[in-house]
Amino acid sequence: MSKLLYLKASPRTERSYSVAVADAFVEAYKKSHPKDEVKVLDLFLANLPPFDFVAASGKYKIMHGKPHSPEEKTAWEKVVAVIEEFKNADKYVFAVPMWNFSIPYRLKQYFDIIVQPGLTFTVDSAGNYKGLVTGKPVFVVTHAGVSIQPGRRLRRSTSRKNMSR
Ligand SMILES: Cc1cc2nc3c(=O)[nH]c(=O)nc-3n(C[C@H](O)[C@H](O)[C@H](O)COP(=O)(O)O)c2cc1C
Repeated sequence: MSKLLYLKASPRTERSYSVAVADAFVEAYKKSHPKDEVKVLDLFLANLPPFDFVAASGKYKIMHGKPHSPEEKTAWEKVVAVIEEFKNADKYVFAVPMWNFSIPYRLKQYFDIIVQPGLTFTVDSAGNYKGLVTGKPVFVVTHAGVSIQPGRRLRRSTSRKNMSR
């Protein structure tokens, strides 16, 4: 039995194109993998811990091999809980809108939480980075308001022609 983590990075619920496609994929996946566990993480509803001064200090303490203060320990436990949920999955589905030519801030916050030394990556003495979450398939559905093609002007994507959403 595999565990699939489905991360929704659009707040637009039933109006979201990326969520609509990812939902369809996940529903088909459930039918073809009835024994698998599917967990949905809506990043705009989840109680993600802030990656603030205390959390950042906790990160640097780890990188410099120093012990955490009590406040850093508490903040770091929340970070580790999010990472454990992420690493516990065997497969991932992401629904990701384009926001300002990038990703929505809640997904960036999620990445800032889960990308941590010793937990999801390591750096050796020569400065080489190595990922610790490997060999797991990821399916990403993304949607943008315009289609971007090399050497051509920006065009509205077909789905935006009927802006009922
Ligand atoms: C805050 C915000 C920023 C956006 N920035 C872009 C952008 O840079 N480029 C683009 O093509 N569309 C942009 N859009 C439009 C969305 O990508 C588009 O509505 C897409 O359908 C959103 O995905 P969703 O339907 O899954 O929510 C933006 C929308 C929002 C709300």
